[in-house]
Amino acid sequence: MSKPQQTLRIQWLVLCFTLAELFRFSHGDVGTAAQYDPPYLPTACYGDDASQFPENNVFGAAGEGTWDNGASCGRQYLVSCLSAEQKGTCVEGQTIQIKIVERATEAASQASSSGTTIVLSATAFATIANSSASKINIEFQQV
Ligand SMILES: *[C@@H]1O[C@H](CO)[C@@H](O)[C@H](O)[C@H]1NC(C)=O
Repeated sequence: MSKPQQTLRIQWLVLCFTLAELFRFSHGDVGTAAQYDPPYLPTACYGDDASQFPENNVFGAAGEGTWDNGASCGRQYLVSCLSAEQKGTCVEGQTIQIKIVERATEAASQASSSGTTIVLSATAFATIANSSASKINIEFQQV
């Protein structure tokens, strides 16, 4: 292969890679979310230290798929509601940024549904969906 051809090939690969990355970042992963009520302490991440909770009460617990052996503690996710069993459950165009403070399976209060990707604090859940729902489909992305 000649040198100019090789350069063109590399530029093409770089372009493809860049486009793939753009696509990846503009579309998060798809998963599910439940909600949980107080008490929120102690947490698997921070014990009894409530100062680690965001002041606006917008936080959540990691499901087993996202817990990452505790490495998920403190991670922030953008979460929006995609759909739910009942039509009209999602608050359209609403995205929240949550901080992981708990492991869903160890939460002091029971989640509205088990086995979800993330369990949202009642406040976080109510921001993106009808609070009477127990489970929603979400789009989420780590920030
Ligand atoms: C939320 O869902 C409940 C139960 O399906 C329904 O009765 C209520 O009207 C809904 N609230 C809003 C604001 O859509």
